[in-house]
Amino acid sequence: MSLTFSRGLEDVIIKETSLTYIDGVNGILRYRGYNIEDLVNYSSFEEVIYLMLYGNLPNKSQLEEVREKLYRNFDVPKELISMIYSLPKGSNAVGILESAFGMLASIYDPKWDKSTDRDLAISIISKAATITANIYRAKEGLKPKIVEPKKNFAESFLNTVFEKSFSNDEVKAMDAALILYVDHEVPASTTAGLVASSTLSDMYSCVVAALAALKGPLHGRAAEDAFNQFVEINSEDKVESWFEEKIIKGKNRLMGFGHRVYKTYDPRAKIFKYYSEKLSKNNSQANIYYKIASKLEEIGIKNFSDKKIYPNTDFYSGILFYSLGFPIYMFTALFALSRVLGWVAHFIEYVEEQHRLIRPRAIYVGPEKRDFRPLNER
Ligand SMILES: CC(C)(COP(=O)(O)OP(=O)(O)OC[C@H]1O[C@@H](n2cnc3c(N)ncnc32)[C@H](O)[C@@H]1OP(=O)(O)O)[C@@H](O)C(=O)NCCC(=O)NCCS
Repeated sequence: MSLTFSRGLEDVIIKETSLTYIDGVNGILRYRGYNIEDLVNYSSFEEVIYLMLYGNLPNKSQLEEVREKLYRNFDVPKELISMIYSLPKGSNAVGILESAFGMLASIYDPKWDKSTDRDLAISIISKAATITANIYRAKEGLKPKIVEPKKNFAESFLNTVFEKSFSNDEVKAMDAALILYVDHEVPASTTAGLVASSTLSDMYSCVVAALAALKGPLHGRAAEDAFNQFVEINSEDKVESWFEEKIIKGKNRLMGFGHRVYKTYDPRAKIFKYYSEKLSKNNSQANIYYKIASKLEEIGIKNFSDKKIYPNTDFYSGILFYSLGFPIYMFTALFALSRVLGWVAHFIEYVEEQHRLIRPRAIYVGPEKRDFRPLNER
């Protein structure tokens, strides 16, 4: 039997999917055949939930049904809220999400035959909203609050987090962010979750596996790291010297740039740029960060385009979130809130249509057979 070794599993196909299509050369992203630009411009996160889980865009009554299911499931066990509030204020937001989903996995102990249950998948998205909102509220010393249904999911979430109303533009920007982060084929987090789901583990536990991979700086945390660069640069006139010092001389990676699949401008980054520019006009500090980011983008592209390294989705998303009032520590958790949908859609697709235990091999490169010597002879 001949085995092939691909470091980082590059170009290894792990599953077939009807969920997400990426053309990394031409910068195209589609969910179930629909261009990401059309979904952001003309649909809503709830419509995308239906699309990802059931295969088609919903009609009006199907959309109402999905909203009703979402709104019915915002509640979470009181022990979970207590756990979030019992943790030190400095706890990592994605770490809290991992703990929360770990708790749900213990409390509900769902059986393997639920691993393709779409109602369970929808309830997981609702619970993710309440958990994420309360991570912020606990860390900011605010009282716990279960998400309350408003006009749509984005507004319900924002209102619960901040207990204030938002303009239509702000709600739409949050909705766009939720749509943009939904799915991206099989990145590290989805793959980690799929490995767990291939064992027929329950959906909550598979989400924990995916969250563990999302947490790393080479994946989900890049939005926080990208934004921290803007904070560190601090003013538009320092962008060039910072780039020279940190990236060229310091040989650091420019965070929010580069992608394993895209060898051109990430289509999501274009949309995030549009919304971050729009929202930052009403927030002077965010506007400074937006201008720093634009200049950094220009210099980054000039330096890296020969290696086909361009802004990715995490370059501008932080400015959108910051403009809405979110602190940096929440950015990866907000990414997770949206990506939970992509994860559960992939788990269902895999288990329902092409299930097989994922069990790769490793090449043994350790010592040859050695004679064992007991402890007192070593
Ligand atoms: C996302 C990422 C891990 C993908 O990388 P990859 O496909 O594994 O590519 P590699 O790490 O093999 O890098 C290939 C080359 O591009 C360079 N490169 C890749 N991303 C870079 C970046 N952001 N800044 C500077 N150089 C970068 C590498 O140094 C390497 O150069 P070399 O061939 O001269 O050694 C990488 O681009 C990165 O670290 N980006 C920053 C983190 C980030 O924004 N992550 C979010 C992804 S959505």
